Amino acid sequence: MKKILLPNGLTVSEVALGAMNFGTVTEKKEAYRVLDAYLDMGGNFVDTSNNYAHWAGTGDESETLLGEWLRDRGCRDRVVLATKVGFDRHGVGAGLKKAQIEYWIDESLRKLGTDYVDLYYAHSDDPATPMEETMEAFHALVKKGKVRALGTSNFDTWRVAEANALAKAKELTPYTVMQQRFTYLYPRSSVAPKYTYNEITGRERLRFLCDKNMPLVSYSCLCKGAYESPERLGDEYEGGARLAALRELAAEKGVTPSALVVAWLTNIHRLAGYPRVIPLFSASYAHLLENLRGLSVTLTDEELQAMNEL
Ligand SMILES: NC(=O)c1ccc[n+]([C@@H]2O[C@H](COP(=O)([O-])OP(=O)(O)OC[C@H]3O[C@@H](n4cnc5c(N)ncnc54)[C@H](OP(=O)(O)O)[C@@H]3O)[C@@H](O)[C@H]2O)c1
Repeated sequence: MKKILLPNGLTVSEVALGAMNFGTVTEKKEAYRVLDAYLDMGGNFVDTSNNYAHWAGTGDESETLLGEWLRDRGCRDRVVLATKVGFDRHGVGAGLKKAQIEYWIDESLRKLGTDYVDLYYAHSDDPATPMEETMEAFHALVKKGKVRALGTSNFDTWRVAEANALAKAKELTPYTVMQQRFTYLYPRSSVAPKYTYNEITGRERLRFLCDKNMPLVSYSCLCKGAYESPERLGDEYEGGARLAALRELAAEKGVTPSALVVAWLTNIHRLAGYPRVIPLFSASYAHLLENLRGLSVTLTDEELQAMNEL
């Protein structure tokens, strides 16, 4: 796996691994197998949150399991660890107030068994808290060495722009990475997003990211397995011409449609109008190997263009 130097100074692998289900839906043995394989193949960018996966447990499981794995393997220095704050756990605790940020970073560090995280995301916007309070609290964590860089997830772009303008004016640490839903398929325009906060990335967001030279970490980029199991697609995405063409080209390249999506996402910045995209997915061991075959697929500019023109 290639490594990418991000504009914020972090060096991450071209694919990020989602740890959301580790310790709940995914039991420890399988989680370790996936993490070991990902690290062996050159992956280093691991994604978790202070609330994963509270809908299947307490919300402490993913960070706790990662902490155990980092300790057991002695590999903290080889991992770029990303975690998040700001979403609810069992319906309470959502927000980006100073006290919440200060409390949850220490909880995350304790569970992860480390004294710093590389990338700390605001998991969702909190318009009820003054932006200045949030940015100052995050900046203080950077100054203390608890956090190396900041990111947003599930924010409107104009709110990121406002926050970073404020950070610039007050000499605070800006947000330098965006994590948002993005995949090859288009959202179905007739269907309202289930949650407004996690709207699927569209053209405006892509232009914003290009303009700001900000990388996009694309979550749920494999549509939760729907490229291989169409019954999982639901009504949020258009299948249509894109899905048919993806299947055809994947067969031609000798990989699965999911692997071709990984190939498309990791190459899309070569075309004008697209930022650097780092696909973030979760997968069992067999699917991880299958998906990473996408990194060996060669896509010409003409093929990328043709995929985009649909
Ligand atoms: N910022 C946010 O608000 C947010 C929200 C959601 C997720 N995330 C992050 O993004 C990560 C991934 O998101 P996600 O789990 O929602 O979506 P995803 O990665 O698109 O989907 C994961 C699902 O796809 C299946 N899958 C993967 N590769 C497959 C293949 N080749 N064939 C068939 N099925 C395959 C997996 O099944 P198997 O386990 O059987 O392989 C799993 O059920 C999470 O772990 C989390 O870190 C962030």
